Amino acid sequence: NLIEFDYSASNSFIDEKELNRLQPSVQTAHQQLHDPNGVWKGSTGWVHLPVAFHQRELVKIQTAARKIQSQSDAFLVIGIGGSYLGSRAAIEMLSHSFYNLLPADTRQTPQVFFAGQNISSVYLTHLLEILQDKEISLNVISKSGTTTEPAIAFRIFRDFLEKKYGKQGARERIYVTTDSSKGALRQLAEQEGYETFAIPDDVGGRYSVLTAVGLLPMAVAGIDVESVLAGAADAYHAYSTPLLEENDCYRYASIRNLLYQQGKTIEILVNYEPALHCFAEWWKQLYGESEGKDGKGIFPASADFSTDLHSMGQYIQDGRRNLFETVLFAEKSQTEMMIGHSEDNGDELNFLSGNNLQFINRKAFEGAVLAHSDGGVPNLVVRLPEISPYTFGNLVYFFEKACGISGRLLGVNPFNQPGVESYKKNMFALLGKPGYEDIKISLQKRLES
Ligand code: PA5
Repeated sequence: NLIEFDYSASNSFIDEKELNRLQPSVQTAHQQLHDPNGVWKGSTGWVHLPVAFHQRELVKIQTAARKIQSQSDAFLVIGIGGSYLGSRAAIEMLSHSFYNLLPADTRQTPQVFFAGQNISSVYLTHLLEILQDKEISLNVISKSGTTTEPAIAFRIFRDFLEKKYGKQGARERIYVTTDSSKGALRQLAEQEGYETFAIPDDVGGRYSVLTAVGLLPMAVAGIDVESVLAGAADAYHAYSTPLLEENDCYRYASIRNLLYQQGKTIEILVNYEPALHCFAEWWKQLYGESEGKDGKGIFPASADFSTDLHSMGQYIQDGRRNLFETVLFAEKSQTEMMIGHSEDNGDELNFLSGNNLQFINRKAFEGAVLAHSDGGVPNLVVRLPEISPYTFGNLVYFFEKACGISGRLLGVNPFNQPGVESYKKNMFALLGKPGYEDIKISLQKRLES
């Protein structure tokens, strides 16, 4: 069962004629994405990935995952941005809400922790404390192999593993996912003899969740990665027509573009399940880094409902009208919980007796969609038949493909991220990295003035 895109609550904001006028641009964008030798040569490997995934690579991932499971209480994933958000999104979406706290024999797979996504001494110190007495394996992930945050965390945890297990013992527990030939991490892995997974050259960081980058951590956490790939492959087929009226994914991309032209410059990805919180973090990176450039782009934000209806809900209903929402709603809940009857009805909740929470959550969703639309905030809805590995693969592909199309409609390159370099250049200069001496002098002057 595929996800469904429903924009009926926003009909008053969308002129179908204008939407259809985008068809030629969508057609061009489609051709460009599907042509491996076209304008986006070297950046579109992710388009065909779900249907071109090598069985050999899958077996390698599953074999490594089994070994990690058998020798570890805890598994540490080191990476940042596209090298960690996808696996974290999948694990949080598809595992028990309190996965790491479950007794080991209930969980049956290692606890999963993340590092390398910040430069916090407090976070890393506390993580070392937690991991002290556990059997550990780690997967360091970096496409460039030179990113500072994961490199720092890897240096710390490699040292930790070598002290705990010796150099050879650590070697049995370190897995490296990086470029097939370039970068410091690839060199180090080869020199040390770590098991490696190669990220395809033509799959950029934020489009890489369906490679070993995302699939190895998912498999270690016990997620059925074959179903994830099946969900993505079915999405590949469903969204392979260039015709707007037959392609939900391209309609989503086009409607975002129309709303942007109406001044709706902020898109909030809303969810009604805490398990989807991190999916929104993945989505924000995908759209923020792909579209926010050349002075353009929709600002991707997120909200967890109904939690944030009691905080950001006020602004959404009533604040500046430059917003639209894309709402993820899961039609089926994995568990059922009923509201019981109370004799004294002291909490005045008897009007809900006999209803399950999914029904009440649905009414919150339906009520908010109508209220926010009435308040001038277009609501686009993505209905998930259920929360499952298949749906995860489906969603990932839907949003990745829509992002490629949407970037083209906006007139930007959705596959680079030149803006990310500016802070890095300043940070390196201020830290005295060789080669940055001149910039350091001018930055120091500015900081001291
Ligand atoms: O999308 C991207 O390319 C980036 O956001 C990267 O994922 C992020 O910067 C991490 O890079 P790397 O995997 O090279 O460490």
